[in-house]
Amino acid sequence: MSESDTDSNATYARLRATTPVFWDEAAGAWFITRYADVAALLLDARLGARLSSVDLAGIPAPVRDQVGALEAFLGRWLVFSDAPYQARMRKAIAPAFVPASIAALTGVLRSHARKHLGHFVEQGGGDLVHDLTKPFALSVAGEFLGFAAADHGRLATWSGDIMGYVTAAFDPELTARAAAALHELSTWVLTSLLPRGDGPVAATLAAGTARGELTGAEAVAIVAQLLTGGVEPVSVAAAVCSAALHQQPDALARVRAGTLPLSLAVEETLRWQTPFHFAPRRVRTDFVFQGEQFRAGDRVALVLASANRDERKFSRPDVFDPFRTERGHLAFGRGGHYCMGAALARLEIEELVRALHDGLPAARSWGPAEFASSYGATELRSVPVLI
Ligand code: HEM
Repeated sequence: MSESDTDSNATYARLRATTPVFWDEAAGAWFITRYADVAALLLDARLGARLSSVDLAGIPAPVRDQVGALEAFLGRWLVFSDAPYQARMRKAIAPAFVPASIAALTGVLRSHARKHLGHFVEQGGGDLVHDLTKPFALSVAGEFLGFAAADHGRLATWSGDIMGYVTAAFDPELTARAAAALHELSTWVLTSLLPRGDGPVAATLAAGTARGELTGAEAVAIVAQLLTGGVEPVSVAAAVCSAALHQQPDALARVRAGTLPLSLAVEETLRWQTPFHFAPRRVRTDFVFQGEQFRAGDRVALVLASANRDERKFSRPDVFDPFRTERGHLAFGRGGHYCMGAALARLEIEELVRALHDGLPAARSWGPAEFASSYGATELRSVPVLI
């Protein structure tokens, strides 16, 4: 699994070579695929966050209310909002992300990694994502946000229903499902999660709302973003990293011997199989970029997954090379929206991959990892491991 050419990577490579600033009529958005352009635009104040692109006037009344509520809710997410609101929210939640708070979770992460690995071994293996990395990432999210294992099922359903609305074209059924999920999630956050105040996030949000620094609706939006954005990429990256190292016995032996830092393999995984392909933006003011006219309101996808495979920046970019010395991948973004959970994500992936490679008895078979040909996010169809 040292090379991968899912359709999306082939498309991005073609765009980098031929039309690095590409207007896609069907998607109604610019796609920016070269590293230097993506890195520059991530810092460019002429681009703002995603705005609602739904025309409420054309939607029948009962669904219009649901769409209005969902768009207002999404507009409160850090990643879909601009400063000063977004900066105020980052500040409100920052205490949960300080290095001491993340470091304090190390022991808990380790014990979750061992526990989930124990179950995985007991059942004779299974699918690496479904049976190990995803349940692990959900447990860690539970510790960090402050919810119990018993809540996992409904949280996964609510997250899935909300993301169904975010990622698909407008559809009344998906909208109704997302609206119901939003209602249930809000009730749960306000009447259960915050009053309990377990875990760094719930404690920080409960204190912030009590001091009047953020509203209940803002707290709900933060929880929703952390739930939907923090579990999937960690579980995919941990599985990819484990499987890729398994394919390179040399590198794995050096990681085990402590002569190759596991952190390098983790960074290389994030570059090579960037979990979120796009940073979505909206043009705030007309300007010309690389000879193309950007108009206020145009949507722009900064293609992080393509920047991370740009041959102008990284040598042999399609190869997973944990010995690589080139730095600077953009998997966590850059600038004002830089991922707040980067340190936690790195720690999670490292702890699980280490536990897996130190604690797994010899496997009867491993892989191959099958990537789904997906745009938007890296998805694994399966990584079968038999013990
Ligand atoms: C491998 C795992 C992860 C990856 C690849 C990832 C990637 C990203 C990216 C690319 C952005 C910026 C998007 C943009 O500029 O539009 C972002 C933002 C963010 N991430 Fe992550 N993320 C990961 C895990 C996490 C985790 C575990 C958490 C917290 C539990 C988290 C919390 C956030 C937050 C709060 C933001 C919004 C920052 C803002 O808009 O100001 N992320 N993430």
